[in-house]
Amino acid sequence: MKSVIDILDLSVSELDGLINTALDIAAHPDRYAEKCKGKKLATLFFEPSTRTRLSFEAAMLELGGSVIGFSEANSSSASKGESVSDTAKVVSNYADIIAMRHFKEGAPLVAAHSATIPVINAGDGGHHHPTQTLADLLTIYREKGRLGNLKIGLVGDLKYGRTVHSLIAALSRYEGNEFYLVSPEELKLPEYVKKDAHNAHFVETSQLMSHINSFDVLYMTRIQRERFADKAQYERLKNSYILTPDKLISAKKDMCILHPLPRVNEISVKVDDDPRACYFKQTLNGKLMRMALILHLLSLSDGKRLPPLSGEVGVCTNPACITSTEQELPALISETDGVRRCVYCDKEV
Ligand code: NCD
Repeated sequence: MKSVIDILDLSVSELDGLINTALDIAAHPDRYAEKCKGKKLATLFFEPSTRTRLSFEAAMLELGGSVIGFSEANSSSASKGESVSDTAKVVSNYADIIAMRHFKEGAPLVAAHSATIPVINAGDGGHHHPTQTLADLLTIYREKGRLGNLKIGLVGDLKYGRTVHSLIAALSRYEGNEFYLVSPEELKLPEYVKKDAHNAHFVETSQLMSHINSFDVLYMTRIQRERFADKAQYERLKNSYILTPDKLISAKKDMCILHPLPRVNEISVKVDDDPRACYFKQTLNGKLMRMALILHLLSLSDGKRLPPLSGEVGVCTNPACITSTEQELPALISETDGVRRCVYCDKEV
């Protein structure tokens, strides 16, 4: 049994295998049209989504399977106070695989240890978003022909932007990548993401233009309005970076511009016709990689629950952590390299 909560749940050889499967699906979709006949995907979306939910659903339908689920917390029993763990146990009796998005960090991890079917994290708070990373990796691979030896500019909300956290975790496992972290001071990349990317080379700046001419990949992100406790701070930071055609003049001719979408105003629509703009291709690649992932996880599914999580029972003070709302769920603390962290949300305690 395997679930994917963190992109690190997939080895580099599994990532490479998923890319190969996705490329094969793109070349021969007919060969895959019945691969999931009789199988059901449950999309449990406690937080809004367009691309991720619809691409999961399209992925399962194109594999010949079917889909059940809900698209907001209000239309599930969560609104009556049901725990994530109970929901996962119930849905295990109705579906073969779960894709879960939740506003609480660690919720899909809780589900993965309660369910008897594979669980895929489709985004948990400001924490992880592994399947967006799969879309990003396939796009970079198709555009650049490699996943290593790249200079990658990551721009915008690096604090709350979960897609950035998962992408850095994945790309830091390939040789020779350099990350240029472009953000306002208040929205810098969390320390735990840097620590987990052990040997990676980081340059931090608040200036988009200072290194744009050296980037192979430019990854723009939205300032994550819904995660700000202080709305005045959001208003102050929301227009920090806006990519316009004039800013691309000094960029490499073969640079590839990515964005997980939705965009607000970080990329002017005038950039859309630039051949370097790859963000709409990225959405197609997301569907292909989700098809590959569903096939992979169903092939490993054995109906057995994952072993319980381990750690020292403690308290996590992160208000976005799933342990802040689930009454029966004590925080579990683990220690690595002298740093104590919550097992669910990764925040230091
Ligand atoms: C991203 C997300 O949900 O984190 N969107 C997506 O899944 N494509 C990015 C965002 O919302 O800014």
